[in-house]
Amino acid sequence: MEQTNEVIECLQKRRTYRQFQDRSIEREKLDLIVNAGLVAPNAGGRQGPVFIVCQDKTVNTLLGEARRQASSIPTGRHVSKEQPSVIDNPNIKNSFYGAPVVVTIAAPKNFIFSQSDAAMAAQNMIIAATSLEIASCFIGRAETTFNTGIGVVIWNDWNIAENLKPFCHILLGYPAGIPPKPKQIKENRVFFVNQDQ
Ligand SMILES: Cc1cc2nc3c(=O)[nH]c(=O)nc-3n(C[C@H](O)[C@H](O)[C@H](O)COP(=O)(O)O)c2cc1C
Repeated sequence: MEQTNEVIECLQKRRTYRQFQDRSIEREKLDLIVNAGLVAPNAGGRQGPVFIVCQDKTVNTLLGEARRQASSIPTGRHVSKEQPSVIDNPNIKNSFYGAPVVVTIAAPKNFIFSQSDAAMAAQNMIIAATSLEIASCFIGRAETTFNTGIGVVIWNDWNIAENLKPFCHILLGYPAGIPPKPKQIKENRVFFVNQDQ
């Protein structure tokens, strides 16, 4: 019998959502998700990442639209039929897809592991969200968002410490639309080497 548990099941069922209900997440759940980010592994135990939680619809829309305009969207690729991305549907004008909660993870500018630290925290939060039936989407390269005109204004308004820079966003909300089908996993991606048996 295949051994499993709740965490393994959560990892298996997690999928990216890009359609969200028009309501926010209860503070209690949001705290659990952000706390999962706080306890993530981090290089040297420095706890560099900080979490900027924005539930302001206007601000999230302005940032998402600015991000969309600043992005060069590759064509000829397919990302998701059920939960289309900006690559699948060029008519989507908001790279944050109207998510009610956008968490930006920032970390020290001059630390070589900041990107990894941010990704570790993001994944912890995404799995915590999944366990609470909260939908999520990871958006990388957050500096693209804040290098836009409105992005600079909003970043300055947030008054984030000078030594920090944004690395990624996590979109969160209650799921809407069609749940993604279980995905096909590409073969030949695992190599057990130097094994006796
Ligand atoms: C580094 C990284 C960057 C991503 N950037 C985006 C993005 O800009 N927009 C988006 O809609 N999804 C983004 N995603 C989500 C991926 O599209 C998604 O994880 C992928 O299609 C696999 O689907 P799944 O998460 O449902 O397994 C990103 C994921 C990663 C890991």
